[in-house]
Amino acid sequence: MTQTTALRARTLRAASATALLLALCVGATHAQNTPQAPGPKPWQDRTLSPDQRANLLDKELTLDERLGLLHGPMAIPFFPGMKLPEGAIGSAGYIAGVPRLGIPAQQESDASLGVTNPGNVRPGDTATALPSSLLLAATFNTDLAYKGGVVVGQEARSRGINVQLAGGVNLARDPRGGRNFEYAGEDPLLAGHIAGAAIKGIQSQNLIATMKHFAVNDQETGRNFANSVISEAAMRESDLLAFQIAHEVGQPGSVMCAYNLVNGAYACGNDFLLNKVLKTDWGFKGYVMSDWGAVKATDFALKGLDQQSGEQLDKQVWFGDPLKAAVQTGAVPASRVSDMSRRILRSMFAAGLFDAPPAVNVDRAANAEVSRQTAAEGIVLLKNEGNLLPLAASAKTILVVGGHADAGVLSGGGSSQVTADAAQIALPVGGEGMMAAFNRMNFHPSSPLKALKERLPQTTVRFDTGRYAAEAARKAKEADLVIVFANQWMAEGDDAPDLSLPNGQDALIAALAEANPKTVVVLQTGGAVAMPWLKQTPAVVEAWYSGDRGGEAIADVLTGKVNPSGHLPVTFPTAITQYPRAELPGLGLPDGQVFDVRYDEGSDVGYRRFAALGQKALFPFGHGLSYTTFAYSDVKVTGGDTLSVSFKVTNTGSVRGKDAPQVYLNRRPDGPAKRLIAFSKVDLAPGQSTTVTLSADMRLLSRFDAKAQKWVQPAGRYEITVAQDAEDTGLTASAQMKAATRKP
Ligand code: BGC
Repeated sequence: MTQTTALRARTLRAASATALLLALCVGATHAQNTPQAPGPKPWQDRTLSPDQRANLLDKELTLDERLGLLHGPMAIPFFPGMKLPEGAIGSAGYIAGVPRLGIPAQQESDASLGVTNPGNVRPGDTATALPSSLLLAATFNTDLAYKGGVVVGQEARSRGINVQLAGGVNLARDPRGGRNFEYAGEDPLLAGHIAGAAIKGIQSQNLIATMKHFAVNDQETGRNFANSVISEAAMRESDLLAFQIAHEVGQPGSVMCAYNLVNGAYACGNDFLLNKVLKTDWGFKGYVMSDWGAVKATDFALKGLDQQSGEQLDKQVWFGDPLKAAVQTGAVPASRVSDMSRRILRSMFAAGLFDAPPAVNVDRAANAEVSRQTAAEGIVLLKNEGNLLPLAASAKTILVVGGHADAGVLSGGGSSQVTADAAQIALPVGGEGMMAAFNRMNFHPSSPLKALKERLPQTTVRFDTGRYAAEAARKAKEADLVIVFANQWMAEGDDAPDLSLPNGQDALIAALAEANPKTVVVLQTGGAVAMPWLKQTPAVVEAWYSGDRGGEAIADVLTGKVNPSGHLPVTFPTAITQYPRAELPGLGLPDGQVFDVRYDEGSDVGYRRFAALGQKALFPFGHGLSYTTFAYSDVKVTGGDTLSVSFKVTNTGSVRGKDAPQVYLNRRPDGPAKRLIAFSKVDLAPGQSTTVTLSADMRLLSRFDAKAQKWVQPAGRYEITVAQDAEDTGLTASAQMKAATRKP
């Protein structure tokens, strides 16, 4: 920690202690610069609900104070000469408070993988970097998602951040998606539960989390001009369902609307998405904040947007003077502006921003352990022919090649980039456009090479950078075994143009596999890649972006200290032509030109479309090998009102391991319909069995009837499979269900 940061940390701690004293005396806030209140105020009564307190406090606000809560700037030096707003600690965004009433400023920081420090705005400040959210989803373990959320929440809070822009739920509809690594995969049930648990973990630390980016923001190409065209029913059964579940599980205080348009209206000015779906149908009580630079007009307030964020990126501070003028002319009712501020205050009360105890001391070592555990459980063993892995301790020489494995593990770029360590390595990526200056390939200094050497003291472990394939292949011939690391750096703002590995790495892997048939591939990718060399390589491990303890986790999996238990949260296709849009919509169009992204596949995202078309994936959704084997038996299904499944899982191998049994719907009364309806994660010793009982949410058995505005589950027989992945025929059973409907 630098002196400045140490000083800031001390000041923050002191501020929190003073706040506690104030809170104890008069139930006041721990906000900085709060003048001492003359006596207890009605909204300070903690026995009242957040709604009641927000109503009472909102009544005290003048119009200007109210408007002040509805917009704010970025709090990083994004443009040359830009100054931080007064009172901002330096983070993605800042919304001024109202000191007169003890309303704290909102200090907003990115993101889901940890507390970021963009542009080193808080000099030298580092934080725990969790693995990518896609890796987290691959754990199929919601407890880990919650624990990771606690880490992020705790570290944010200890810095004075009270709004964490975390909780990415967009579905990975396209394997090239630039932000797939920030999201939780292609399935609404899995994504909703993983992101929801993470949000819950963050908010347990008394701050607001932000479920984002609402909605159907499923590609980065032309993200400000892409118009997602999709029917209501399809949206409700896929992308919106993921958000709906995350909302139910996590109860986020805020929702961030997205950059794109949905069916012709910008997501942040989309009456249907914000007023109807989110606020009316789902009963969302918090506030909608815009993505940074996503507000186009004042009347977005009427469409359901409550707060304009990162306002320098918009053409105008729409929610400042223009909104005031609109209130004065009656174009926007004063009651709506009051609703906006009340929603913000409500979330602040609900999260405890007014009266939570001071932040706890952060134990970075314990948090690093959560990061390591998550990585260890989300790394996926894709292929392991002849049980090449775990590495035999008897291998005399191992050649490690490429991926900067000597330096660390790759992380994804953009606003979610965490600086985990002062020794973090950042290689400029360059390119054109606004983001070119910011694009850096960051490596967390957790070197897989170093970790392997530590774990294999009897083995000679050598390293080749992989810059020259022929030279690496020459060395590969001399080694007993080769481990090649291949990297695909993905970042916000850009999709991958195709499914190849960049910089000739596909050719490097093929050359190494040719030179030494015992070649293990470790992928560090944002999502799915094509693997043209797959037939030549006996073992492949998908390590995603594995976070600040990733090197150790990868080495633990390779050496068998950890038995892999990650399962794919996305389909790995054989080629992009297995997807509905082989050409990325909008590619090459000039900025400003709105274009359609037609989601004609409807709710058949990922494996569901593969099943509908009878396509075989390279690796299906849900796939993941282990160093042991599991068997399922005794499947029992009961129907009626609720579909419940129970089955036995047995570890039939010789080592302890974790399994992620999955239950899929195969067929509804009206025909085939593949979808994940339940999952679990179990830990079993060799020979041990456990009975898993799961029940299905009726929405997963239903179709959404847009005309009738309800979920409809027809009466009849429903067939399910208990399986290892979406293509596994597994064990099939069926149950008779009653007809049912449910509100949206
Ligand atoms: C991203 C958001 C992020 C915001 C603030 C935007 O570019 O889309 O996810 O929270 O910036 O940094």
